[in-house]
Amino acid sequence: MEEIRAKVEEVKQAIANEQVANAAELEQFRIKYLGSKGQVKGLFAYMKDVPGPEKREFGQLLNSVKQDAEAKFEALKQSFSANGKANKIELDLTAPAQPIEIGARHPLSIVRNEIISIFEKIGFVVADGPEVEDDWHNFTALNIPFDHPARDMQDTFFVQKDPDWVLRTHTSNVQIRAMETQKPPIRILAPGRVYRNETISARAHCLFHQVEGLYIAENVSFAELKETLLYFAKSLYGENTTIRLRPSYFPFTEPSAEMDVSCMICGGEGCKICKYTGWVEILGCGMVDPNVLENCGIDAQVYSGYAFGMGIERITMLKYQIDDIRLFFENDKRFLEQFK
Ligand code: PHE
Repeated sequence: MEEIRAKVEEVKQAIANEQVANAAELEQFRIKYLGSKGQVKGLFAYMKDVPGPEKREFGQLLNSVKQDAEAKFEALKQSFSANGKANKIELDLTAPAQPIEIGARHPLSIVRNEIISIFEKIGFVVADGPEVEDDWHNFTALNIPFDHPARDMQDTFFVQKDPDWVLRTHTSNVQIRAMETQKPPIRILAPGRVYRNETISARAHCLFHQVEGLYIAENVSFAELKETLLYFAKSLYGENTTIRLRPSYFPFTEPSAEMDVSCMICGGEGCKICKYTGWVEILGCGMVDPNVLENCGIDAQVYSGYAFGMGIERITMLKYQIDDIRLFFENDKRFLEQFK
């Protein structure tokens, strides 16, 4: 009896310790314990050796082992149909497919593409330049003197000093690169990232995007610049949009101007966005300074041209009434999803 009891205990223990990793192993478990030649059946064979008075109690013991094995089998089966590994895949083939979630363009890309397509219609070609730039292309060739505040450590990220390499502070470096490598007529549009060492706030970021425009040919006039920008403003903000140019200063253009458009929110009536002036500033522009042309080996006696530069963040914020520039760089889905 001792021996038989020990044997029963061994099987009980073995069942408790069994683990299976997949459906094939589960089936092995079933065969090993519950099959017609399985260990539980094997234990029942001892019944004939058990003395009469103990048969009843022993029978109950064997039944409990059998129940253990069945319960364990069910538990193991549940455990992996719950985590999806069961051999029998429960699939409702008539269920409709899960829709695929389609991503959205970043608002800055939407507006950049819109600006590009407006200027491509009138012959501008997209050009590119490096974001890590030397002093010549970012400053010196653009007629920016050594003591100009734009070079201040406050504004510029220096990658290296002497010779200076900087993260470009504007896309105007592409003007220089285009004029150094192409012969007029030149008509380019250069979208890209720029960097400034500014304190990050709702209005300013250390990284933002600009679009630069440059047109060089014979006899280019300020009137052409103005007409081109009016076409741009109307295309972007609607036919009723008007513009005004205010005198300004940039080292690389002369004369220089800043362009305002009639407020796209209130139509010029006055509102919070335009600070009740009816106008919002969207870009800087001017006639390319003859010094800049000469720096690039273009004869300023023969050629003239205009340039303009705008911040994509600013234009996008006005278009969608976004009041914090940091939203563009946080990649919060709740923000990005709104531009589908
Ligand atoms: N580079 C100027 C800026 O970053 C913008 C500009 C470009 C002005 C071209 C005039 C001509 O503010």
